[in-house]
Amino acid sequence: MFKSYYCEKLEKTLHFLPDKIKFCCSCAQGPGVEIKDFSNINKEQIESEKKRIRKLLEKGIIPPECTGCVEYKEKSLKEYVQTLFCKKEQISLVKHIIVDHYKQCDCKCVYCSQEYLYKGVTQNYQLLPIIKQLYASKMIDEIELKAEFQGGGIAALKEFDALMKEFYKHSCNDYVILMNGIKYMPILEKIGCNPKSHICISLDAGCRETFFKIKGLDVFEQTIENIKKLRSNSSAHIAFQYIIVKDLNDNIDELKKFLELAKEIGGIEPISLEIDYRNTLLSQEKFVIPEHYYEMFNTAENFCSENGIWYMISPYTRSILARGSNI
Ligand SMILES: C[S@@+](CC[C@H](N)C(=O)[O-])C[C@H]1O[C@@H](n2cnc3c(N)ncnc32)[C@H](O)[C@@H]1O
Ligand code: SF4
Ligand code: SF4
Repeated sequence: MFKSYYCEKLEKTLHFLPDKIKFCCSCAQGPGVEIKDFSNINKEQIESEKKRIRKLLEKGIIPPECTGCVEYKEKSLKEYVQTLFCKKEQISLVKHIIVDHYKQCDCKCVYCSQEYLYKGVTQNYQLLPIIKQLYASKMIDEIELKAEFQGGGIAALKEFDALMKEFYKHSCNDYVILMNGIKYMPILEKIGCNPKSHICISLDAGCRETFFKIKGLDVFEQTIENIKKLRSNSSAHIAFQYIIVKDLNDNIDELKKFLELAKEIGGIEPISLEIDYRNTLLSQEKFVIPEHYYEMFNTAENFCSENGIWYMISPYTRSILARGSNI
């Protein structure tokens, strides 16, 4: 039977990487365009590539870049018929900017996918002028924009404060900031308490020793102090992540210490668990999810439910847990 698909992420996202702009952040490769000169971005090239992917999905063809992705959705017959009669090509405003052009970091996590995917890559352009230009040319949806920082470490991104000031200036109130918490960043205090916004800290440990083994830096206490300070000075949602790393923190005792710590700090949610991508997303080999991993997920979910803490796992992780293995 004929099927037609669409992807919301494709329509609204610009994901800035060191050498390209992608149209999403997905567990699949994801479509996008290579950029040689970031001082002269070709908007037409971006639009026409988005259009090409959109058309393939509409025809029910999954482009190779989207293979394995869990984000595209089937169109209802009514929606499909509507697209056939819609003569004007829809050009959506940018509603999601992913800042990911910097890979430098002040930390040394054993699992770092940046280190794996972008070894030796340095930041080769400034994003601020591009963001200013996008605002000036009215390409950004100022009401709905989500600004997300992935990258390396925000503390090592020199233009971080200037970028945040630009987003604040345009009243952006929806942020996702992924960080390690090692350095205190006062500019984060201004993020409001919009429930869609959050600062996510991958703590991955509940004690100094494990933190050191995973992060490569002996700064557990300092990180906890920073988090407590940010918690009292900011109304933003602060989330904790625990990446399960084989033979380092894949045990219930460590997880319980981490959960108790989150509870003690207070106002930390959601709590999310992730499995090291080196065993899943980034691995060509089959990784059968061990039984004790399931126990860890259950422990976290029960703890959160008993303590009224929001618990979350990503759609990708949910799918591999249901399957029992990464492939
Ligand atoms: C690449 S990081 C960059 C942001 C920031 N430096 C940080 O670590 O939070 C983006 C997200 O991917 C997570 N991540 C990195 N490597 C991973 C891995 N091997 N397995 C699972 N998550 C990983 C990080 O914890 C973070 O939430
Ligand atoms: S279907 Fe997946 S890979 Fe393709 S554009 Fe959407 S989010 Fe990206
Ligand atoms: S904090 Fe993030 S970018 Fe830095 S080493 Fe750890 S995972 Fe990599």
